[in-house]
Amino acid sequence: MQGRQLASKWAKTAALLSHPRIASHIPPTRMFNGDNLRSMLRVHGMVVIKPVKGAGGHGVMKVTSSGSGFSYTYYSRTRHFNSFQGLLQALKKEQKGRRYLIQKGIRLAAISGRPIDYRVKYVKTDTGWQIRSMVGRVARPGLFVTNLCRGGSMLTAAQGISRSLSGAMVTRKKREMRELTRVSTAVLEGKFHGIGQLGFDYGIDRSGKVWIFEVNTRPQ
Ligand SMILES: Nc1ncnc2c1ncn2[C@@H]1O[C@H](COP(=O)(O)OP(=O)(O)O)[C@@H](O)[C@H]1O
Ligand SMILES: [Mg+2]
Repeated sequence: MQGRQLASKWAKTAALLSHPRIASHIPPTRMFNGDNLRSMLRVHGMVVIKPVKGAGGHGVMKVTSSGSGFSYTYYSRTRHFNSFQGLLQALKKEQKGRRYLIQKGIRLAAISGRPIDYRVKYVKTDTGWQIRSMVGRVARPGLFVTNLCRGGSMLTAAQGISRSLSGAMVTRKKREMRELTRVSTAVLEGKFHGIGQLGFDYGIDRSGKVWIFEVNTRPQ
C-alpha cells in the first residue's frame, strides 16, 4: 500500500514538535522570512534553508554568518555578501517565490570531510509497522547534502557510524534511530490518518547526538 502522502515539511515538523521527547531531536525550525533568518543566524551561526515542499535536496541551501559578512552555499557554489540585505535579496531570488523554512544547521559527523546522514524506511504491514532498511548516505565530495540523486553514496548504517564516529557507538545510535522512528510514527499517525510508508532522514552530529531532518511520506 502506498499510503497517504504529505508534502509539507512544515506540517510534519510541527506535528513532531508537539511531542517533547521527539522535539529535542528536531533542529530549531521557523518559517523563512528576513527577521527569522537574521535572528537564527545570530543564534546559530549556520542555518539550512529548504523549500516547504521539496525533495531530493532541490533548493536546499546552507547559510552562514561570520565576522566578515554572510555566505550561502547551493550545491557546490558559495557566494559571499558584505550585508544582510545583499544576502536576503540573493536568497529570495533563488527561492523563486516558493515557501521556505529555516533550520539550525547541524554539524554532521563526516567521513573524509564528507557529511553523512541516515535513511530509515518504515512500512506498515498487516502485522504492524516494520523497519525495512537503515542506511547511511555520504555526501558527494564538495556538497553538504547527502541525497543519492545528488551523487551521495550509500553504505550500511554500521559502517557509517563507525567510520564517522566510532565503532563503540554503532549499537546505541542504531537503537536510538529505531526508537525515534517508532515514537515519531505513533505521533504522526495520530495526526495524519492513513500514512503507510515513511522515510526518516536522521543526522548524527560530531558529538553523537541524533537529529531528525525530515520525514518523507513517499520514500524512494
Ligand atoms: N538542519 C540541517 N543541518 C545540516 N544538514 C541538513 C539539515 N537539513 C538538511 N540537511 C542536509 O540536506 C539534505 C536534504 O534535506 P532534507 O531536509 O532531507 O530535504 P529533501 O526533501 O530535499 O531531501 C539532508 O539529507 C542533509 O544532508
Ligand atoms: Mg531528505
